[in-house]
Amino acid sequence: MKKIVIALDGYSSCGKSTTAKLVAAELGYAYIDTGAMYRAVTLYFLEHHISLTNPKEIKEALHNIDIEFHYNPKKKRNEIYLNGLNVEDEIRKMYISDKVSEVSVIAEVRRAMVSQQQKMGRKRGVVMDGRDIGTAVFPDAEVKIFMTADVDTRTKRRQDELLEKQQLVNYDEIKKNLLKRDLIDSTRAESPLRQAEDAHLLDTSHMTIDEQVEFVIERVTAEL
Ligand code: C5P
Repeated sequence: MKKIVIALDGYSSCGKSTTAKLVAAELGYAYIDTGAMYRAVTLYFLEHHISLTNPKEIKEALHNIDIEFHYNPKKKRNEIYLNGLNVEDEIRKMYISDKVSEVSVIAEVRRAMVSQQQKMGRKRGVVMDGRDIGTAVFPDAEVKIFMTADVDTRTKRRQDELLEKQQLVNYDEIKKNLLKRDLIDSTRAESPLRQAEDAHLLDTSHMTIDEQVEFVIERVTAEL
């Protein structure tokens, strides 16, 4: 059967990764969480005290960063490795969320990540979630979805997610972080977050996960 690229873009915490994982599992496709890649770069920059305004340091750092995804059969998920180390849990912490959008505006960082993402999806058969998949990484993706949800729903979902990982974070702090990232992500010069003209809009504010998955699968079926 024909294999396609499914691009899931949208605002922070509106259910992209949960939906993407389930869609990928249903279709037997690979799932690539591009946000995890920007988070891993952020972790490296913080650990190595890379100045975000020093192009030479940034270039060198990017040269030294190796990012891979490996499937963890116990947890039934792809996990991200930074220079051979599993950083799946570390990159979800608030101190990374606080910095990641400032790192993702850097053109050099974007170029490096986009090129790696294009390689990962070159054989198609992938579900990729992020901010610029349908507009910059795979403008030719056969199915593009742009996800959104009201900010309180997103904050609550993020808080529940963090709680599951025993991270108690104040509601207002999470909300502030989501709004800050949305603003930086959608106003940056290089491939800002925006809905591609040919993307289907999916507002998940009042939808269950199953309904979100069904919405995507219906669009995929129409394409195959
Ligand atoms: O998806 P997630 O919330 O983990 O993404 C973290 C951050 O990474 C986003 O807020 C954004 O700044 C950046 N990002 C990006 N482009 C992508 C995916 C994520 O700029 N394709």
